[in-house]
Amino acid sequence: MFTFAQITDFHISRPDGMADRMYQTARHLGVAVAHLNGLPQRPEFVLCTGDLVDGGGDREYAILADILGQLTMPFYLIPGNHDDRAAMRQAFPEHAYLAGHDGFMQYTIEAWEPRLIALDTLIPGESGGRLCQRRLDWLHERLGEQPDRPTILFMHHPPFRTGLAKMDLMGLEDKAGLANIVRRHDQVEAVLAGHVHRFITRRFAGTVAISAPGPAHQIALDLGAEEHLSVIMEPPAGLLHVWLGGEDGLVSHVTYTGGCYQEQTLLKDGQWRRETPVLTPAIPLA
Ligand SMILES: [Fe+2]
Repeated sequence: MFTFAQITDFHISRPDGMADRMYQTARHLGVAVAHLNGLPQRPEFVLCTGDLVDGGGDREYAILADILGQLTMPFYLIPGNHDDRAAMRQAFPEHAYLAGHDGFMQYTIEAWEPRLIALDTLIPGESGGRLCQRRLDWLHERLGEQPDRPTILFMHHPPFRTGLAKMDLMGLEDKAGLANIVRRHDQVEAVLAGHVHRFITRRFAGTVAISAPGPAHQIALDLGAEEHLSVIMEPPAGLLHVWLGGEDGLVSHVTYTGGCYQEQTLLKDGQWRRETPVLTPAIPLA
């Protein structure tokens, strides 16, 4: 068994930028990093599934690199619709995989079982996502290389409609094209995504697709609203994926990165031990 974490949609802005003033995004990400470093079963690595910064600027990526640099395990990046590929490559020169393929930040991670494949859904200047034939062809080739090896895909835009009307207007364009490929490769254990700032699951092309909640602001459950988007400060969170292997495959847990504390622990002798330290306090907004 081993675990890996997924955090997403940090929306780091400059300290005087809107995202940081309203949601304290940098401070929330710092708390999430400390949370992951302190988990009793430390994740082997962390997937960061896009919208890493809010405006795509160099200064934002410098702040991001400082915070993520405090992770005590490797981390992997993909772009979201708020990101800029060139600025990402510049801010993380040691992340050679960001060179990607054919201009897109698509790559495989071969160091663990299961294998991981990163997909790049960014359309510069637009909120929605696209894979296009070139990116889909690349995925099809990669999946054909190791058909018997369990594989997890990760991308920014989830490949399903969420029922959140406004978010669905900025969803992934070619969901059917991705589904056609995934359906032909039954080694795909899961498709992991971000973008919608909520934990949502959907059956997808013979596998399971999941979107992760954010470490700062979430999208409110205001399903029918097409005209506006409501943001809500629900408990900040990420996902902790547990690879059990064999018949048991992958299970995915929500891990709250703020607003929670450990109450008590059941010991081997059946006694409860009262815990005193607060692990991750909520961050009050100004
Ligand atoms: Fe986002």
